[in-house]
Amino acid sequence: MLRLPQRDLRCYECALRLSCCVNAGDNAIALIGFMGAGKSAVGRELSRRTGWPRYDTDEMIREQFGISIPDIFARHGELAFRDAETTLLKTLQRGLGGIVVTGGGIVLREENVRLLRRMGRIIWLDADEEILWQRASRHSTRPLLQTPDPRARFAELLRERVPLYQTATDYRINTSSSSIAEVTDEIIALL
Ligand code: S3P
Repeated sequence: MLRLPQRDLRCYECALRLSCCVNAGDNAIALIGFMGAGKSAVGRELSRRTGWPRYDTDEMIREQFGISIPDIFARHGELAFRDAETTLLKTLQRGLGGIVVTGGGIVLREENVRLLRRMGRIIWLDADEEILWQRASRHSTRPLLQTPDPRARFAELLRERVPLYQTATDYRINTSSSSIAEVTDEIIALL
């Protein structure tokens, strides 16, 4: 059973701005999944409903660099972004619990999955490929889709990553025909 973490407590050890941390153990829920799965929206709703703090790795990395994610990729390269993800997860280990919303590529490093697992339960938000694409292509801000054929790239990345999500997750939720509120209900029922 997950314990309700205290709100608004801050970890002053954090190297990163904004980083009130997530505790190791069973205090956290991590949302993983491909672009368009609804991780950010569900994370916000879950935080609103439970009162748990929310740590969105993309938001925190954007804040840390002071520029957008496409600009991080363009100016510093994907490796710098991936390193920032791992560093952030290590920092979040030392805190108090909450909801960790991750970017779609967090599962690319086994180390990240180990770090998430130590924090608590990992939930994979999934959906049918066409639905993921419709949602993800509404905003043209995803750096990995800035290619001549973004649809083909999307399919290729999804194919590569599905086995990684499968291996990482404790629980899979298909969000294809569910509202944000319904997905949140399903997660809350697990707590
Ligand atoms: C990425 C997904 C993005 C963001 C970055 C890389 C990926 O997050 O972390 O652009 O590798 O799939 P979302 O999953 O929220 O789109």
